[in-house]
Amino acid sequence: MLIFAHRGASGYAPENTLVAMTKAIELGAKAIELDVHCVEGELVVFHDRRLEGKSTGHGLIHLCTLAELTQYAVGGEPIPSLWDVLTHLDSITQGHCIINIEIKGVGCVTPFVNMYPRLLAQLRFSPSQLLISSFNHLYVAQIKQQLPQAFVAPLLGSIPLDLAQVVTDLDAYSIHLDVAFINQAIIDDAHQRGAKVYVYTVDNSDDIQSLKALGVDGVFSNYPDKAIAAAALALP
Ligand code: G3P
Ligand code: MG
Repeated sequence: MLIFAHRGASGYAPENTLVAMTKAIELGAKAIELDVHCVEGELVVFHDRRLEGKSTGHGLIHLCTLAELTQYAVGGEPIPSLWDVLTHLDSITQGHCIINIEIKGVGCVTPFVNMYPRLLAQLRFSPSQLLISSFNHLYVAQIKQQLPQAFVAPLLGSIPLDLAQVVTDLDAYSIHLDVAFINQAIIDDAHQRGAKVYVYTVDNSDDIQSLKALGVDGVFSNYPDKAIAAAALALP
């Protein structure tokens, strides 16, 4: 079972920061999930659409400037660019890491499509190590259309009437499901369509073992060390 450190090791360090990424790798995570918004054409790693709450900034993140963003912090840590996070993870893992880039905000598709060839050329990640997801399936479709070699995934917050049909529609590598709604029918349908099933956000050991028994391929956890231990204990 693949364990994604959700927003880095966000149970132990400020989410979506370089220290959260470092912590995740130190705890043994082989995969990382992070969230992306666009600020002045630059992709930055941050979860919420608004700055207040999780950072010292205020307002909608896509309306602030990069100069303003450098003044803000999350738990005392800077808000990093996507490029900074990816180069950092490449450096500390020698390119041996899977990264799920969740596209959150408006205006991210074109900057990501433009960045993608540079990622493959300058860092050690292959397309299979860079999994691009979004709740906005139009973004996923646009990325897959412009980057056919990219590994993409739809995020779902519910169970659609047509189960995992979206996997086929998007030519997706995986489907990312909310633990609150997971059921055997959508897991089996996704598998029959050739997709992996990854479930968010799961910190409870009993939940992880139950999901493994259902055939789930991976989970997103804020405590990757505990999730790795729970998954190792679970029956295959
Ligand atoms: O990508 C899985 C999970 O992160 C989706 O929800 O709100 O935590 O980004 P959220
Ligand atoms: Mg996310």
